[in-house]
Amino acid sequence: MYPGPTLEVNNGDSLVINVVNRARYNVTIHWHGIRQMRTGWADGPEFVTQCPIRPGGSYTYRFTIEGQEGTLWWHAHSSWLRATVYGALIIYPKQDSSYPFPKPNRQTPLLLGEWWDANPIDVVREATRTGASPNVSDAFTINGQPGDLYNCSAKDTVIVPVDSGETNLLRVINAALNQQLFFTVANHKLTVVGADASYLKPFTTSVIMLGPGQTTDVLITADQPPSRYHIAARAYASAQGAPFDNTTTTAVLEYKTALCPAKCATKPVPAALPAFNDTATATAFTTSLRSPKKAEVPADIDESLFITVGLGLNKCPKGVRKSNCQGPNGTRFTASMNNVSFVLPSNFSLLQAHQQRIPGVFTADFPAKPPVKFDYTGNVSRALWQPIRGTKVHKLKYGARVQVVLQGTSIFVTENHPIHLHGYDFYIVAEGFGNFNPKADSKKFNLIDPPMRNTASVPVGGWTVIRFVADNPGVWLMHCHLDVHITWGLAMAFLVENGVGELQSLQPPPSDLPLC
Ligand code: C2O
Repeated sequence: MYPGPTLEVNNGDSLVINVVNRARYNVTIHWHGIRQMRTGWADGPEFVTQCPIRPGGSYTYRFTIEGQEGTLWWHAHSSWLRATVYGALIIYPKQDSSYPFPKPNRQTPLLLGEWWDANPIDVVREATRTGASPNVSDAFTINGQPGDLYNCSAKDTVIVPVDSGETNLLRVINAALNQQLFFTVANHKLTVVGADASYLKPFTTSVIMLGPGQTTDVLITADQPPSRYHIAARAYASAQGAPFDNTTTTAVLEYKTALCPAKCATKPVPAALPAFNDTATATAFTTSLRSPKKAEVPADIDESLFITVGLGLNKCPKGVRKSNCQGPNGTRFTASMNNVSFVLPSNFSLLQAHQQRIPGVFTADFPAKPPVKFDYTGNVSRALWQPIRGTKVHKLKYGARVQVVLQGTSIFVTENHPIHLHGYDFYIVAEGFGNFNPKADSKKFNLIDPPMRNTASVPVGGWTVIRFVADNPGVWLMHCHLDVHITWGLAMAFLVENGVGELQSLQPPPSDLPLC
């Protein structure tokens, strides 16, 4: 199936999912956004919380959903397999409980995907060989179909049915590999009610922006003349001059009561999407998000981190052929957090190495700040373009109240980065452009009703500040959800220590945990 099956569960449910690998690649599955309280073994990123499931092998993921409602998704977390291996994970309210908004008449998950007319594994392998950036995709998709702007898809374009006066809850998921997307519905207002399986204070807009990994729940009311309307998505491309897939994917919002000619018209009412580089619209959206009520944001902070996120260029190593250094000016692309380009282990997962105290797999010296201070979003000296490589984690005490400033850099280019933290939801207390200024910018923190998310959009040439309480022991990856950037090393991991007693400790590993 493409996309894969939709999982529909209730808040509070325990899930047992047996994954059988019938592919010819190693694979793991990640339940994106699930907190995985004490069940890190079921989180899924390969070589972080488990070794991959080999072809022919299987692994049973067991976890409980605690206090999360809304839309999440699942995807392969191994190389670029998630290009085609993903599906929706819908969490309904607890039995006997309901939404904090009027119950919609219908619900439709809309998975925005990214398609290559090639094997995506070949695309990433070629890029890893040449050191250049990988080919951009050939199309975007909605529930697996590029839509009626393509002859090949015209007959199979996804139809979202409505009846006049009805409300439909659209669960929009950006499952694209490498592209932030704008999403809109022609002539209809979108009422945003949730993101990343946390509710939001409702507000209306005509367009939303999602980075890969992010989800947004929107209500639309069928209050327009019965007809067919385009649902459309296309790139928000923030990096100046960088190539991107400039195609548009569509689905159709179809009023069931519409008569011909409106219903029979082959051309739905067209949708208006922002310009590809419309950062103002992206920012207007991300800064409109609020928690529904006063939030329990940590006020006092125990651990304060400042982490730079951005690209880099490695000089062509001595003895390496020119054909392997096809990045800008004969270099190879790289990326880093605090100047460390993350390298996955290959013999043990980080979680195994931590729990079984296996030495030599990682070091616990991921720095709390960049090794040197510089003008992060200014003209950065070439001497700072080459990160070091390492498998470094940052330790957190159980229960620590953590603040992380995610600071984008202008090394090679500035661009928007969707930064995802595994095992946690965090509050986004502020975002801005340029360099984060602790004195001036901390005055602007929203400690009242900031939105809770699992993936933050760090603005192009800017910063985002997140806060969370380290109440989930384990090893948790934090990375840019553009797969091209994670390939280049834009990642790190937190190692959260056990607290006191069983309920504050990581569970023992399941007996069928795959070995490397
Ligand atoms: Cu959606 Cu590390 O992943």
